[in-house]
Amino acid sequence: MSKVDEMQKAILNNIPDQAWLKDSDSRYILVNEAFIAACRLPENEILNRTPLDVWPAAWGREYIDTDQRVMREGRRLRYEEQRHAEDGTLRWYDTIKTPIRDENGAVIGTTGISRDITDRKLAEQELLASRAQLRELSAYLQSVREEERTRISRELHDELGQSLTAIRIGLGVLETQHAMQHTLQDDAWRDNLQRLKQIADSTVESVQRIAADLRPSILDELGLSAAIDWLLESFSTRSKVAYELVLPSSPLDFSAEINTAIFRILQESLTNVSRHSRATAVEVTLTQNEDGIGLRISDNGKGIAAEVQAHKSLGLVGMRERAIMLGGKLTIHSEAGAGTSVELSIPLPRTAQEQP
Ligand SMILES: Nc1ncnc2c1ncn2[C@@H]1O[C@H](COP(=O)(O)OP(=O)(O)O)[C@@H](O)[C@H]1O
Ligand SMILES: [Mg+2]
Repeated sequence: MSKVDEMQKAILNNIPDQAWLKDSDSRYILVNEAFIAACRLPENEILNRTPLDVWPAAWGREYIDTDQRVMREGRRLRYEEQRHAEDGTLRWYDTIKTPIRDENGAVIGTTGISRDITDRKLAEQELLASRAQLRELSAYLQSVREEERTRISRELHDELGQSLTAIRIGLGVLETQHAMQHTLQDDAWRDNLQRLKQIADSTVESVQRIAADLRPSILDELGLSAAIDWLLESFSTRSKVAYELVLPSSPLDFSAEINTAIFRILQESLTNVSRHSRATAVEVTLTQNEDGIGLRISDNGKGIAAEVQAHKSLGLVGMRERAIMLGGKLTIHSEAGAGTSVELSIPLPRTAQEQP
């Protein structure tokens, strides 16, 4: 072996991946130590033999096939392969094969390198599984949260609202009784009573507002388009931002899940508009066609900085998750100074008859 050959061999042996060189009949000309260790044969039983002699027959045939393909096509091939190890476990390899040419450009053999990527594959699978699990957990938490909000909203509205109204009526009765029994003016007493009545009135209003913010009963009782109207009206009154709403001409008839998702995404977007955008107008468009449902919320505000979008705040992440849970997606278009547009698209769930 020449000095140069020895140096090349040393380099090859330094590589932890299996590496080899084959002639045009797929006979091994050179293999490194990792290759020798993997096929568990002494070097002299590998050199000048073909893959059929050193590997199980099925693998051998596959290796010869890919050698021939590389030589026929004259270009580098990279692919992942799976093999069962002797202990029965499945292992993955990332393999690259390249044609070797003589000085006239004719293909005279192939060279290859194969890396064991089993650990990476297992980690990838674990990551995907844990992501799917997180998504399920998040969907579950969302639905629990929605149920909880519905319950608290109802109790606030029904129980607390009722009691407050009773107090308000009682104060009115007291006032009348007092007026009948005391002909003399008793200003201090009446002022106190007036103040109590005002407090009761404003508390009734607060309870109704808090209950509606938690989960508007209008969504369950009158449906999505009424709830959207209500949401935009109260948003516009509170924030002084003008709005335009475009709804499909046909009545909306989505599942409760979709209604909730659309409502919550609109609610979160409008909160963002009033909190961050400094917009003066917002346009909300809901569409429905055979492809599915679309919702776009566009404002004319200052836009979202790219760093913010990349860093992904939780409000935006939550909206995206809601979309993904329904098989849809949510995208955000924004340019500095040119406003923000949040777009949701959800495929319509197919009914049983529609399915092929
Ligand atoms: N309509 C908008 N216009 C301008 N900036 C926005 C808009 N919506 C969101 N942003 C920016 O994106 C960030 C992330 O939004 P979000 O995830 O809802 O979190 P939060 O509202 O809690 O800050 C906001 O802090 C804000 O800087
Ligand atoms: Mg937000």
